[in-house]
Amino acid sequence: MLQGKKIVLGITGSIAAYKSCLIIRQLIKKGAEVQVVITPAGKEFITPITLSALTHKPVISEFFSQRDGTWNSHVDIGLWADAMLIAPATASTIGKMANGIADNMLITTYLSMKAPVFVAPAMDLDMYAHPSTQKNLQTLLSYGNHIIEPGTGFLASTLEGKGRMEEPENIVAQLESFFAKGETMRGKKVLITAGPTYEKIDPVRFIGNYSSGKMGFALAEECASRGAEVEFVCGPVSSSMKTQNPRIHRIDVESAKQMYAVCVEKYPQMDSAILCAAVADFTPDNVADQKIKRTGDDMIIRLTPNPDIAASLGKMKKEGQQLVGFALETNDEESNAQGKLKRKNFDFIVLNSLNDKGAGFRTDTNKITIITAESKEEFPLKSKADVAKDIVNKLVALQTCNK
Ligand code: PMT
Repeated sequence: MLQGKKIVLGITGSIAAYKSCLIIRQLIKKGAEVQVVITPAGKEFITPITLSALTHKPVISEFFSQRDGTWNSHVDIGLWADAMLIAPATASTIGKMANGIADNMLITTYLSMKAPVFVAPAMDLDMYAHPSTQKNLQTLLSYGNHIIEPGTGFLASTLEGKGRMEEPENIVAQLESFFAKGETMRGKKVLITAGPTYEKIDPVRFIGNYSSGKMGFALAEECASRGAEVEFVCGPVSSSMKTQNPRIHRIDVESAKQMYAVCVEKYPQMDSAILCAAVADFTPDNVADQKIKRTGDDMIIRLTPNPDIAASLGKMKKEGQQLVGFALETNDEESNAQGKLKRKNFDFIVLNSLNDKGAGFRTDTNKITIITAESKEEFPLKSKADVAKDIVNKLVALQTCNK
């Protein structure tokens, strides 16, 4: 996947700079061409001679070549590259990138870069956790840059292991997977629902469910990373759940009725919809204005049906549009899913069962079966990110068939 790719490797002043040699070796082994641009502080940690011996190219660090005074054009490097990777990226460099402080060759190259930019932060945990660094990383994400780091990714709820630079082989693997994936959904618009819905009983109580939103977030990131514009309708999830890709437009809702209103408005402009939310089928008949007080022994809440978003979109579906549903089951899994597939007019349904360990609500993994009118494909237990890839592969295959 990296054969013939032109990579600009930016190196900054971190102890992890020695690992950039391993990155270069792997990139070159996989057929890439590497041009190093190093900051003055980077040179304190690793010598340009080592880097140029590995890349077979002069290392760029100044605006003018010290040897003959020729001008190093950051604009030309920006046009030459297929990708820019900044590894290690210090807090200082990340701050300069976020704020356009072009006081060295690496930052001017970054500002002129036409290719995708990958950033592998390297610093100690306190510096990483500082609000200033977090804000700057957010800013880089909003510029469409990719942040590469160990663990479950930027803004995961835990900071464990954060700040340390991701291992060279994983950095190279992420570049590879970026080029392998291609932008197979470029120009497509996808509506995705995620999370639970809350149905109000009174100002302090609601009927809800255990959905964390993790599966829906993984789908949104996967579609966006393939170039799709994502309308992401999200029920009430934890405030630590954040989207990363700027192509995801998040719309927060609380109740099934609010989710329904957004979905029916958006779907006509979409190429497809993936309905991953766990939507409450019923809602209290009346919402009390004030907190309901304990009175007798029993309390009865009368419920009325909510609109079925999936069934409504299934009726609205036009030729060339796709509709994908989920079924979370506890018994008679397959026949229940088959029923929903037909009733809601889905192109395919993703079945997950609470009988499978590690599947369904809240977990970071899921185990799914994709069911169409003609076929059934079972997948092993995987991370929700990988499950999202399988689902989106299926959707892309359908879109290609419908062309
Ligand atoms: O969020 P996580 O913690 O990661 O968990 C993921 C998940 C378990 C919520 C997800 O994988 C999943 O299975 N989502 C659908 C759960 C569900 O409640 O399915 P259902 O069988 O009730 O509904 C079938 C389909 O109709 C679903 O696509 C649902 O979004 C849709 N639906 C249901 C009711 C309704 N009123 N409107 C709908 O659109």
